Amino acid sequence: MSGTRDNTFWGNFNESTMRRVPAMLTFFWALLVCHFFNSRVAGGIPSPSDKLENVTQTIAHLLQGYDIRLRPNFGGDPLYVGMDLTIASFDHISEVNMDYTITMYLNQYWKDERLAFSSDDEVLTLSGDFAEKIWVPDTFFANDKNSFLHDVTEKNKMVRLYGDGSVTYGMRFTTTLACMMDLHYYPLDSQNCTVEIESYGYTVTDVVMYWKDTPVTGVEEADLPQFTITGYETNDRKESLATGVYQRLSLSFKLQRNIGYFIFQTYLPSILIVMLSWVSFWINHEATSARVALGITTVLTMTTISTGVRSSLPRISYVKAIDIYLVMCFVFVFAALLEYAAVNYTYWGARAKKKVKQKLKSDTPTKRQEGCYGNEEIIELQELQLSPIPSIRKRTFASQSDPSLGAAQSPRFPPSFRIHRPHHGLGSSYGMGAGGGSLRSRGRSRASRQRDQLQPQSQKMLQTIRRGANALKASLPRIRDVNVIDKYSRVVFPVTFILFNAVYWSFYFL
Ligand SMILES: *[C@@H]1O[C@H](CO)[C@@H](O)[C@H](O)[C@H]1NC(C)=O
Ligand SMILES: *[C@@H]1O[C@H](CO)[C@@H](O)[C@H](O)[C@H]1NC(C)=O
Repeated sequence: MSGTRDNTFWGNFNESTMRRVPAMLTFFWALLVCHFFNSRVAGGIPSPSDKLENVTQTIAHLLQGYDIRLRPNFGGDPLYVGMDLTIASFDHISEVNMDYTITMYLNQYWKDERLAFSSDDEVLTLSGDFAEKIWVPDTFFANDKNSFLHDVTEKNKMVRLYGDGSVTYGMRFTTTLACMMDLHYYPLDSQNCTVEIESYGYTVTDVVMYWKDTPVTGVEEADLPQFTITGYETNDRKESLATGVYQRLSLSFKLQRNIGYFIFQTYLPSILIVMLSWVSFWINHEATSARVALGITTVLTMTTISTGVRSSLPRISYVKAIDIYLVMCFVFVFAALLEYAAVNYTYWGARAKKKVKQKLKSDTPTKRQEGCYGNEEIIELQELQLSPIPSIRKRTFASQSDPSLGAAQSPRFPPSFRIHRPHHGLGSSYGMGAGGGSLRSRGRSRASRQRDQLQPQSQKMLQTIRRGANALKASLPRIRDVNVIDKYSRVVFPVTFILFNAVYWSFYFL
């Protein structure tokens, strides 16, 4: 081939020079040319520059009259476009945006008869720019949010042309794909994220995509900090859209969330905080500041933990698995604080109740007696004044202002001067019911104030309610010692928490 080209060149040259130079010189020229030409052909192996020219010519020839706008096999059978992809890396999964980012190599294979250039299996690897000169499929990702082709150092694209017109078109890019996640089981969930590939314009009558024999590689090597890829599968289906029916290829990954991070970040701290709140049951109930501080600290810590968890999640309205756990931990911690409130109220409330009852008795003129209050009781009132529960304290002040008490006596007994503890026999008559009982007495006084205005019917209802409350109170065990509440709590709280954990973990893991 190169020979022909040289011949014409030199032929033309000779023609132009023949007019001016002598025949001798022409002959000499002809000899030289012959020698030059022979030396090249005799070698047999085409020189690289020749091959280069041959290919350049081949490509130029291929593109001559090539209409880039028309698909291969235009007007005939649909064009089959094969796909395969290699996962380079799984970069990021975002629950907040409900998407994930992957970098991949996508290869597309099809046959364009117009590009056939040789009968034997010759392969031409061309730069990505060549893709701008030939028809390429208008493949797009249906769930793509944002993607870019890498262009360091050059556009990561390649075109490989085979002698029979087959084309391999490869590229490397990073794409962020939407993945709607179901977070009901978060963080014990597994997600199904897909890559949806489709032709943008060509319906199934023009372009049909299919997965190659090994459609996906590199999934095993892909590593994600928060997930394990437990499996993947490829599907193809026909997608009916407003503009026609399209062939859609989809690749779906099954992603199992790694629980380890959450165990150390959320579950374990929550468990420890709940256990910390139980420490209160072993502290003397008189150490008010210690037990209240412990209760409030644990409640606040639980709040902090749940705030941290929420910040990495979208604002979804449904309840997630982690919400249930955190809320239950919060309830446990809160219950421990309430337990102390109950202990405290029972302890101080029993005394207040007794005092009020005695005062009521002494207020009736027949029973009024001077010197009814012994020193012992005054000391008790002094103790009452110390109660951390304000309502009891207030009531104490009220009874102190009673002239029969002899307010002048009280300064004689400083609050710390405790010589007598109430005996259990007295305490027991009010006991556990003291909390409810004092409420009841308050309710009764209010009721008596309103009694005249009440309808007989509502009065009857009130009485029914009261009777019911009395029955309930009677059914409750009487607490002889407030320490009993703590004693029971020491068992009940851990057992309930273990039960809750057993139910929780077996529900989400089985
Ligand atoms: C040039 O290309 C043709 C096919 O297009 C081939 O038959 C020929 O051997 C090639 N010549 C060289 C020197 O590579
Ligand atoms: C993901 O979900 C699709 C349906 O939405 C299903 O066809 C596919 O099999 C699922 N993939 C996996 C790996 O479970």
